[in-house]
Formats: sequence, C-alpha cells, structure tokens
Amino acid sequence: MNQASTYNKEAFLQVLHDRRSIRRYDESVKISKEEMTEILASATKAPSSVNLQPWRFVVIESPEAKAKLASLAWFNQRQVETSSAVIAVFGDLQNLNYLEEIYSKAVELGMMPQDVKEQQVTSIRSLLSGISEQGNRDSVMIDSGLVSMQIMLTAKAYGYDTNPIGGFEKDKIAEAFDLDKNRYVPVMLLSIGKALDNGHQSYRLPVEQITEWK
Ligand SMILES: Cc1cc2nc3c(=O)[nH]c(=O)nc-3n(C[C@H](O)[C@H](O)[C@H](O)COP(=O)(O)O)c2cc1C
Repeated sequence: MNQASTYNKEAFLQVLHDRRSIRRYDESVKISKEEMTEILASATKAPSSVNLQPWRFVVIESPEAKAKLASLAWFNQRQVETSSAVIAVFGDLQNLNYLEEIYSKAVELGMMPQDVKEQQVTSIRSLLSGISEQGNRDSVMIDSGLVSMQIMLTAKAYGYDTNPIGGFEKDKIAEAFDLDKNRYVPVMLLSIGKALDNGHQSYRLPVEQITEWK
C-alpha cells in the first residue's frame, strides 16, 4: 500500500485551512520548554539546501527578553506582549560549519554509507565555496522560510496559533539577543500562543490566475 494513503488528508488540510495570523493571545498560557522543543523538532523536518539546516532560533519568553523585543517590534506590540513566546528565526550564513557534523551523524545513525558521505561532503564543500555571498544568503533565507512555515503549521497541530512578523528592526535584532549580526540574518518573528480571537479571513488569488500550465 502506498504510504501516502495512510495519512489523514482531511486532518492535514484542516490544519492548513484553519491557520490564520493571530495577534492576540491568552497571556496566562505558557508553553513548556519540552513542548516548544517538540514543536521545533518536528518543524525542523523541513527540507533545506543540501540538508545544511541553516535556521537558528531564539525563543523569547521571559518578561525581560520580551521587553527588549517590544522596543524593536514596531506596530506588533500586542503579539509580543500577549503571546506565550516569540520565536525569532535567523539564518546562519556560516552554514558550512555544520556540514561535517550533519553528514557524519547520518553515517553513525545508519542513514548513509561512509563512502557516500565522503563524496557528498567533498562535492558540497566545493559547490558552496564557489557560490556568491548573495547566493548563499538567498539559499539560507529560502531554507529558513520553509522551517518558519513548518513551525506555524506544527504549532497549529499542537493547538496554538501564530503570527509571522516581518515588521521589526532587522538591523538591531541579532545584537539585542547576543548574536553576531554579520553571521545571523533575521528571517522573521513568529509569535505563538493560545488565540484570544479568531483572526481575520483573508483572500487568496485563484490558482488559475497565479499558475501557468505548459
Ligand atoms: C514574511 C511575513 C511578514 C509579516 N509581517 C507581519 C507583521 O509585521 N505584522 C503583522 O501583523 N502581520 C504580518 N504578517 C502576516 C500577514 O499579514 C498575513 O499572513 C496575511 O495577511 C495573510 O493572513 P493569514 O496569515 O491570516 O492567512 C506577515 C506575514 C509574512 C509571511
């Protein structure tokens, strides 16, 4: 039997269709470190370019950290103040640093033969060392966008809601949370918590308008 047929399509589509940006949360709800770790672990099943997983997260949940974030979050104060946490998603431009670790671990866990690893690590290193800074940055941003989406959907499956936030001080956020701003590029903030309202419906362009079949 095709494995796909064992998935519950309706349940999955329900998560997709029910996700909406939520900007007001129940302030009394905290998400435990264990549960947040589970959500992030599932979300990081996201694909990434040559599996380098360049996403990095800062979970901002303490009152002090939230106050610091609020000063950088422009018109998004309410999400910062009322959410259980805000996950700041960054992309690590030095993603090659993790190449050896990721591929060695795959061998150790029986996911890949040693000789395939050696060959892949060599070719990825040469491929990526020839890529431009902008090309690397684009790739890191694409991968980090994919994991961000997966965080939002995973959160929904856990009974939480989210809001992706791009309106914040991108040139100040890394340093505010003790990261090297030349290495870690801000991708987006994701507020997460128990919804206090239903958000808004929003229109989607019809598929016929945005798609060409050749
Ligand atoms: C990259 C990105 C940045 C966004 N920035 C903000 C933001 O700064 N503030 C906000 O309230 N919503 C923000 N949004 C949420 C969008 O407004 C929202 O996703 C869109 O209107 C569709 O609504 P929905 O998420 O409820 O489906 C952002 C969404 C994305 C993907």
